[in-house]
Amino acid sequence: MRRVVCPGSFDPVTNGHLDIIGRTSRLYDEVVVAVLINVEKRSLFTVDERIEMLQAVTKEYGNVRVEKFHGLLVDFCRQQGIPAIVKGLRAVSDFDYELQMAQLNYRMSGVETLFMSTNPEYSFLSSSRLKEIARYGGDVSGLVPDLVRQLLVERLRG
Ligand code: PNS
Repeated sequence: MRRVVCPGSFDPVTNGHLDIIGRTSRLYDEVVVAVLINVEKRSLFTVDERIEMLQAVTKEYGNVRVEKFHGLLVDFCRQQGIPAIVKGLRAVSDFDYELQMAQLNYRMSGVETLFMSTNPEYSFLSSSRLKEIARYGGDVSGLVPDLVRQLLVERLRG
């Protein structure tokens, strides 16, 4: 079974994430979407809420499993028997950070990192920018699945 992990915070999942997850799901037998439990970072959605959203919007792919993890990603990979990580690259600005992480992860564990170029339609998109737009009443349709848009609007309306 060829298995790979797509890790992230997914607070919340965007169409940019989904594009990478969907394209990866066509290349591998199983894609494990791993949601980071980060107690130091304030998030809009709880880890369980993020997992529920991810499960709903990746159901149609048929070979995507959503899990949470804390600590090092490579330890999660070892526990799950996953030899590779897939990361989306939006622009050169992502590259320095991602390359450093990929090299450290490989050095620590031998787990490989594969970079997939983001669909240009979403190269400007991030969960942080998305939340900012939604918080000030901007229209985020087309940037997130409809279910996520509704939950975002509800959460930000208080
Ligand atoms: O969506 P994000 O916040 O950009 O995702 C970042 C993530 C979760 C992929 C990254 O922060 C991560 O792997 N964190 C786990 C800790 C870890 O393994 N760090 C790498 C040390 S080189």
